[in-house]
Amino acid sequence: MKTGLWTMAGWMLTAAMLGAQAAPRDARPASDPVKGREAFVVYKCAWCHGTEGQGGLATVGPRVALVPRSLDSFIAYVRKPAARMSAYSETSVSDAALEDIYAYLRAQPPAKASKDIPLLEQLRKPKG
Ligand code: HEC
Repeated sequence: MKTGLWTMAGWMLTAAMLGAQAAPRDARPASDPVKGREAFVVYKCAWCHGTEGQGGLATVGPRVALVPRSLDSFIAYVRKPAARMSAYSETSVSDAALEDIYAYLRAQPPAKASKDIPLLEQLRKPKG
């Protein structure tokens, strides 16, 4: 019966290891884009990056909608930004809130091409 127990312990260990591997950080099922939208405003990300992450002046807050970064890289950036953006520690914004924000930003539609924005086309046309 002793070997039976060891076999069972082995299976349980294997299952635990597989379980840990089967949860990539980009696919946390509990992350919520609706809560993320709220957090994006509450933590003032929207002040600089626009309510939909569309961005404004690059020096104030570039476009972050769709974030071409992995979740880990996104969180790492917010914790330690490269230049002007102020850093957010874990005590000011939790990883869970950032995961929701990430889900929200990833859910944004892609930017329109400038040719599909009539006002921009008007500005581009030579006057006269
Ligand atoms: C005071 C303005 C300001 C606030 C508030 C702010 N950011 Fe930024 N953010 C910036 C600026 C400016 C940059 C461009 C790089 C730099 O200067 O650090 C940036 C860059 C980023 C980038 C990197 C973009 C890329 O992929 O290169 C991410 C991601 C980001 N911000 C997310 C956030 C999130 C999430 C929040 C809220 C928790 C936030 N930011 C709050 C100004 C801001």
